[in-house]
Amino acid sequence: MDFGAGLLRHLPAETAHDAGLRLARVMDPFLPHAGPDDPRLAVAVLGLTFPNPVGLAAGFDKNAAVPDAMAKFGFGFVECGTVTPRSQAGNPRPRLFRLTEDGAVINRMGFNNGGMEQAARNLARRSGRGIVGINIGANKDSADRIADYEKAFARLAPLADYVTVNVSSPNTPGLRGLQNRDELTGLLEKLVTLRGSRRIPLLLKIAPDLDEPAQDDIADVVRRSGIEGLIVSNTTIARPALKSAHAAESGGLSGKPLFAPSTRMLAAMHARLNGAVTLVGVGGIASGEDAYAKIRAGASLVQLYSALALQGPGLVARIKRELLACLVRDGFAKLTEAVGKGA
Ligand SMILES: Cc1cc2nc3c(=O)[nH]c(=O)nc-3n(C[C@H](O)[C@H](O)[C@H](O)COP(=O)(O)O)c2cc1C
Repeated sequence: MDFGAGLLRHLPAETAHDAGLRLARVMDPFLPHAGPDDPRLAVAVLGLTFPNPVGLAAGFDKNAAVPDAMAKFGFGFVECGTVTPRSQAGNPRPRLFRLTEDGAVINRMGFNNGGMEQAARNLARRSGRGIVGINIGANKDSADRIADYEKAFARLAPLADYVTVNVSSPNTPGLRGLQNRDELTGLLEKLVTLRGSRRIPLLLKIAPDLDEPAQDDIADVVRRSGIEGLIVSNTTIARPALKSAHAAESGGLSGKPLFAPSTRMLAAMHARLNGAVTLVGVGGIASGEDAYAKIRAGASLVQLYSALALQGPGLVARIKRELLACLVRDGFAKLTEAVGKGA
């Protein structure tokens, strides 16, 4: 299904995104469901059973306005957010750029979102039953960033299937500093304490631009923290050789150029964590082969955003079809058998 994606491609990137969101909201009641997934694609992790491993990454539906519509396109789960306690406008436009020749996107949105009360209202009136995660962050002008994560967690965790702690956006100055050993230990301790005996899974989303010692620290903190998952990765501030006119825009780069570095880091974190937590692979997935490579590198689940923006929602069904073909080709009876089996 093209879902007007061809038309939207001719609009400026953020205008197209806003139009796509509005269209999804209006069309939600009329959208047919993608239909049941092949049972070989099911994944049971984090105490949840995902019908397929292909999720929508954070940033598309910042306010949890359309998770049910997105699930109907065939995603196995939808991650909404990043949501901050208070609403904020984000950076001035333009702040979202398509790098079509590179199969990439650069964004410096800066956590534009309607705040946790708006997201909570939207989540509370959902009718769908698909798996929805909520990704939380801190306000740009916050005096106490850790307290922001606590507030957003307390408000939104009861309305979601899992919560992602986003400390890796490059577009909120200083935010990635929370990936440092001491700050991260403090943040995760607070959230695990706040969670108490509730069974809501906690995941941490990290940047792809961490050096080896920083990766060692994160693996160590994650292992001790009691959280259940790690998402690798957010967008990169690196600029590999790019062809597009927008290549020099500041912000986070995603899409095809992020595939190799984020997959390498996923494999490295898999080696470090050795099954201690569930890994979610994200960065540059645009085909079933790409998703399969992440799974073989150690991911039990995958997510994507840029390829959806560049290609439209028909991509989801294609990725699932191709992924199944990869499993059959390599003699795996089900997807979970391929997790971490190397390239
Ligand atoms: C426009 C845009 C906005 C994003 N916003 C967020 C966000 O709010 N929170 C977050 O954790 N990641 C955000 N991301 C990162 C994506 O979730 C994902 O980690 C990254 O884009 C790599 O995946 P991809 O190559 O499939 O796009 C955003 C990405 C894009 C392109």
